[in-house]
Amino acid sequence: MEEGALLDTATTWVEQARHVAVLTGAGISAESGVPTFREAQTGYWAQFRPEDMATEEGFRAHPRRVWDWYQHRRGLLAASQPNAGHVALAQFQQRHPGRITLITQNVDGLHQRAGSTGVLCLHGDIFADRWLDTPRNCCHIDHAVAGHPPYCDRCGNLLRPGVVWFGEPLPYATLEAAQQAARVCDLMLVVGTAGAVYPAAGLARIARDAGARVVIVNPQPTELDAVAHEALRGTAAQVLPALLSEAH
Ligand code: APR
Repeated sequence: MEEGALLDTATTWVEQARHVAVLTGAGISAESGVPTFREAQTGYWAQFRPEDMATEEGFRAHPRRVWDWYQHRRGLLAASQPNAGHVALAQFQQRHPGRITLITQNVDGLHQRAGSTGVLCLHGDIFADRWLDTPRNCCHIDHAVAGHPPYCDRCGNLLRPGVVWFGEPLPYATLEAAQQAARVCDLMLVVGTAGAVYPAAGLARIARDAGARVVIVNPQPTELDAVAHEALRGTAAQVLPALLSEAH
């Protein structure tokens, strides 16, 4: 089926859906100038080893290297703006309160800056810090001594980014809410994710098995294509405004 017909079908599915669940990944922020992870050449994992930069072991081995990389990313994100894809989702939620659940693997806060609320952030928030070890009475995050990373001057506990690293559990209540949304939705949009990381990627299969239609928005094939009823081969900033607008 040619692209225009696919988009028309998907738009009809949006109109018919009582509840839409949306799973987003790094690709939705690509048009805001934020690098993805697995894209060849430009992806972060083409430049760094995830085990060095996105695991607790990697942080403990080289806390300064990891902390500085997250500080670099925070600076890039502070200078980035939400794009038309983020905005289309936020505006859909404003027009149809309660009809959409937005689940993201992204830690960049761009959905929230576009106006989306109740975002289920499966992998945490890059702008939040937390203690590396269970905090003792002496550890006060607002008294942490500045450093790379900041630390507790009483016991040496280090601050770390409040994101979920490989091998770490996702926030239980957030994952539960996301899996519940996948079970009850009539339509799941899977936007800008390679579908390579679980349990996030498993949400598409949960939705499909529960009877929802599954539509992928991604310029490239993904590991979830086989789970989808349709794959719209375009970018988030191009496809989402057309897919979610009231024009149809
Ligand atoms: N619009 C839509 N999709 C896009 C765009 C775009 N403009 N640009 C790139 N993409 C797609 C790519 O084709 C790719 O399929 O976005 C996807 C990005 O995939 P990844 O880089 O693997 O990012 P993601 O799937 O979010 O990674 C999941 O892995 O490293 C961990 O915790 C990290 O949350 C991340 C998780």
